[in-house]
Formats: sequence, C-alpha cells, structure tokens
Amino acid sequence: MTGTTCQSEELSVEQLLGNPSDLPVLPQMAAKILEEVRNDDSSPRKLAEYVQKDPVVATAVLRVANSALYGARSEITDLSFAMVRVGLVQVKNLILALVLRSQMADPKVYGSSGADLMSHSLAVALAARLIADEVGIDGNECFLCGLLHDFGRLALIKSIREAEGLSEPDLPPETIGLIDRHHTTAGEILAKRWGLPSVVAAAARHHHQPEACTEGARHVWVISLADALAHHLGLGEDADPSIDIDSHPALAELGMSESALEELKSHIPGLFETTHSAMTT
Ligand SMILES: [Fe+2]
Ligand SMILES: [Fe+2]
Repeated sequence: MTGTTCQSEELSVEQLLGNPSDLPVLPQMAAKILEEVRNDDSSPRKLAEYVQKDPVVATAVLRVANSALYGARSEITDLSFAMVRVGLVQVKNLILALVLRSQMADPKVYGSSGADLMSHSLAVALAARLIADEVGIDGNECFLCGLLHDFGRLALIKSIREAEGLSEPDLPPETIGLIDRHHTTAGEILAKRWGLPSVVAAAARHHHQPEACTEGARHVWVISLADALAHHLGLGEDADPSIDIDSHPALAELGMSESALEELKSHIPGLFETTHSAMTT
C-alpha cells in the first residue's frame, strides 16, 4: 500500500468515525482507572475507593477472589482481603474491563454485537496477559492491548448506526464488511486520541498483520496469538478449530515452547469462564 493510499484510507476512516468532536470519548471512570493501571505506585486505598463505590465491581472482585482459580478454601467477604488474594494488578484490570463493558456494551447503542465483542476482548486480554508473563513482556500492558485491540469495531458500530439511523439489533452484511475492513485503523486513531500507550495503538492497528508492525512488535505478536487462541478455543463464541494454533508464526517470534502453549490452552478457558461469569452474573 502506498503512503498516499494509506493516508486517504485513514481519512475515510476518520470520516466514518465522525467529526473529532463526535468521536467516542473514553469514559471518565475508565480513564481514571487506566491512570491507576499505568501507575505502578498506585495505592490500594485509592483503588478500594473505586471498588467500594460500585456494588457491581465489588461483587465481581469478591466472586473472583472466592473462585477455585485463586485456591479459595475459606470464603472471603471482606473486600480488602479479596483484593489481596486476587492481587492489585488483577483487580485493576478487572475494574477496567467492567467499566468498559458497562459503558461500551449498551445494546441500545451497539445492538447485539456489543456484548459479544466485550466477551471476546476480555478473552484476548486474559490470554495476552498469560502469554506476556510466559515470554517476559509487561503483562499489564498486554492486558490493555488485548482489551482494546478490537475497540475500533465498537466505535465504528456506534458512528455508523447513528449516521445511518440503523436501529435493528443486527447490522446489514455490507456494514459488517465495512467495519471488518476498517476496525484496525479506527482502533489506532482512537488509541492515539485517548492518549493511550503507543503499543495499544500498534496492537489495534496490526493485530491481523503483525509482520507489518515495526514499533512495539512483540506486544502485537502477543495480541495476534491471543486473538487466534480466543477464536480457536471458542471463548465466549463458537470454537473455530480451523485456526492452526500449533504453527502460528507468533510462537517462533516470541520464542514460545510447545509445552508452554499446551499449558496455556488448558489454563485459559477456566480463567476466562471465572472472570467472565464474575462480570456478567
Ligand atoms: Fe480484529
Ligand atoms: Fe479480535
């Protein structure tokens, strides 16, 4: 693709997303939590304030803390104990996912696709964190890249629905095709506008073609593998066994062993189920 073609395509995605003033705004709460997630010294007390204020978030943290995943033997009812058991980083990520989900998966705005997309994003975020831990990359950043990798889809769904007055829960096939083609560029534009780390923009832009990425490439390979794993394992959707995980190019790029991949395949579904049900029930 030439530079000119690329530029004009980006211009049309900007147009699809609407005027800059109409672009989806990152919810205030999500922005605050993002700041906390990026700040290594953030205090547990500050985080507990967010958690206590919101019964939905508090319940989700307690549910995860009391799940078999964290080896719960005795039931925890105290929120601060729950946060210690789950770990501060996981709590931050869980809150971020919950806030985005509650504000970005509104069926009135996103039709039937919003909730499915948020489930998929959570699956990719969780898988990305595990892969990152395995290959020695920042797991917190990879969680964020995973959570937002397909965000361009949500933004485009909202803008196109509003611009064309589409109110049916399901979108016409040609609109889905348009969103498919442009969601990576839209995601990159949004990540930049929201001032997110450059790896988040790179992952949004290149997760379907990681070999085209020059900056932040290891993060992008992590997201590409996590995305493929989520589809292959059918996390929050039907499994797609046609996706060949065992010879995915990310394995060589990241230096990941066959045994590490097998362990991930067996660990991720339980982690996803626990976190997803804590967030949705
Ligand atoms: Fe995608
Ligand atoms: Fe995806």
